[in-house]
Amino acid sequence: MGKYNFDEQINRYNTSSLKWDFNLERGKQKDILPFWVADMDFKLPNEILNPLSKKLNEGIFGYSECSSNYYNAVSNWFNTHYGINVSKENIIVTPSVIFSICTLIRILTKENDSILISEPVYYPFKESITINNRKTIISNLVIENDKYVIDYKEFEKKIIDNNVKLYILCNPHNPVGRVWDKLELGKIIDICKRNDVFIISDEIHADFIYNKEFFSIGLFDYDKKVIVSAPTKTFNIPGLKISNTIIYDKTLYKKYKIELDKIGYSQQSFFGLYATIYAYSYGEEWLKELKEYIYNNIIYIEKYLKDKLPKIKLIKPEGTYLIWLDFKKYNLTDKKIDDLIINKAKLWFDSGLIFGESGSNYQRINVATSRILIDKMLDSLYKTFKDL
Ligand SMILES: Cc1ncc(COP(=O)(O)O)c(C=O)c1O
Repeated sequence: MGKYNFDEQINRYNTSSLKWDFNLERGKQKDILPFWVADMDFKLPNEILNPLSKKLNEGIFGYSECSSNYYNAVSNWFNTHYGINVSKENIIVTPSVIFSICTLIRILTKENDSILISEPVYYPFKESITINNRKTIISNLVIENDKYVIDYKEFEKKIIDNNVKLYILCNPHNPVGRVWDKLELGKIIDICKRNDVFIISDEIHADFIYNKEFFSIGLFDYDKKVIVSAPTKTFNIPGLKISNTIIYDKTLYKKYKIELDKIGYSQQSFFGLYATIYAYSYGEEWLKELKEYIYNNIIYIEKYLKDKLPKIKLIKPEGTYLIWLDFKKYNLTDKKIDDLIINKAKLWFDSGLIFGESGSNYQRINVATSRILIDKMLDSLYKTFKDL
């Protein structure tokens, strides 16, 4: 028994929760359990909540700016967790990772330029490209020995054929759970170097790695790279709207600041700043136990499926708190699978298709929740699919 109780069930209805209340707003019944959007059903530990409550009780929430405490906390986290040096001069604070990706797209490319992504991948990548009037080029990941990998030949061909300017890397890769290893990243960088392609590396899931080493793109010698990251997945604070963009190139850093001025963004969220400082300073022990809890959920689900629903195949994640399930053995359409999951099993997953056509017949499940809900989910899944 650890110090923290991740089994505690917290009623999240009527908390303006996208994950829980949006469900109702869409006219769906309250009995549909949500396992979709990547936010966790766990409460922050007192080590972080207490100093944050103190800030709340001070009662003044004027304009706030990043203090040296903020930069030190971020820099220390990046150094101790990812082995990279970042300082105030490299860090730009924005409200979210997708905000930053959209901003970078506008700075680094022109309208109609081609931007590459590796599908299946977090769908807002494509949305960010499209909404900014750029062209999405897709290189599909391929499965080799139950593991998603990059087909480097095809990857480079797509870059050359489409004059690609920018690649958005997802590391760890949502939804397939890959944590790209050193060799793989080296190959990606070599190809991008050869073809003068800028890389945005989305490393928001980097604190959820299981039995593997995480290599940030910051460790590699390539000038044309930016890291987008945040404490929001790690500490479940996406509602506080904060993220960090790491820019090494001074000219790009300046351009980014000007772009922020152009859209009228200046000061940061008061609670976002303080939550980041407290989480990165006092959240280590909680995070360690949290990761164990989530990893145990993954192993538990893997065993359950093997024993009771062997037609559903789990692609075991090396990172993230999301699992990717293959329903191909049922020979059903995506529409039918979605329909069974929502209307019969009364569960809300993310349909694989939203991550790209190669996500057809897959479902993504967020397992950052209590074991009690995982049990309920598995039970419903069993009742729905056992005889199919
Ligand atoms: C890979 C990835 N990037 C970005 C985000 C969203 O980050 P933000 O809320 O800071 O835009 C998510 C959320 O699930 C994600 O999985």
